[in-house]
Amino acid sequence: MSFELPALPYDRHSLEPHLSATTLDAHYSGHHLACLKRLNARLENTGQTAGSLELLLWSEDEELAWLAAEAWNHTFYWHCLSPWGSATPDARLGADIDTTFGSLSALHDAIEAAALNHFGSGWLWLVRRSRGPLEIIITGDGQTALAADRTPLLGIDLWEHAWYLDYQNDRAAYLKAIRSLINWDFVTQNDLNPISIAPPAQ
Ligand SMILES: [Fe+2]
Repeated sequence: MSFELPALPYDRHSLEPHLSATTLDAHYSGHHLACLKRLNARLENTGQTAGSLELLLWSEDEELAWLAAEAWNHTFYWHCLSPWGSATPDARLGADIDTTFGSLSALHDAIEAAALNHFGSGWLWLVRRSRGPLEIIITGDGQTALAADRTPLLGIDLWEHAWYLDYQNDRAAYLKAIRSLINWDFVTQNDLNPISIAPPAQ
C-alpha cells in the first residue's frame, strides 16, 4: 500500500481572495504531493509497510518519520481552513480561549506574534496538553505537534510556500488573511474528539 494525496475539502478557488488558487495548486499539487511521493519511495526502498502516517511518526528511520509528519501536517492544515466554517469555536472552547488568552481576537494576536517571532520554516499550532490547558506552540521545519501528551486543535503552515505567491515575503499579511479562513468547526471537533497516537505494539 502507498499513500495517496487526500482530496482537498473545498475547491481550489474557494479560499480566494485570501489564498489564491495558484497558491493552492503549488502547495497542494506541488509540495504536498511531492512529500507523499518521497514518502512512498522511501517506504519502497526500505521495504517497510505503510500502515498509517500516525504509526510512521514512531519510525526509527528519521527520514520516514519526518516525511510522515510533513504529510500529516498538510492534510490537517487543509482541514483547518474553510470558506464555509463557523467563524467562532463552540461555547465551551470559546470560554476556554477567553480564559487562556483573553478573547478570540487576543488568541489571533498571540498566534500572529508567535508566528512572526519564529525564524525560518515550521508550523504553528494551538494544542491542548494532556486534556489540560490550551497552548500555542511552534514546531520547526516539518515536525508535527501530534504527540502522546498533546492534541493539536489548529495547525498553520509557516513555510514560505504557503503564502509566497500571494504575499511575497510578508508573513504577517498571510496570517491576517487566514484569520477569516480558520475552520472553527474542525478546531472544535479536534478538541471534542482528540486525535491520539500511541506507539506501535512491540
Ligand atoms: Fe506546506
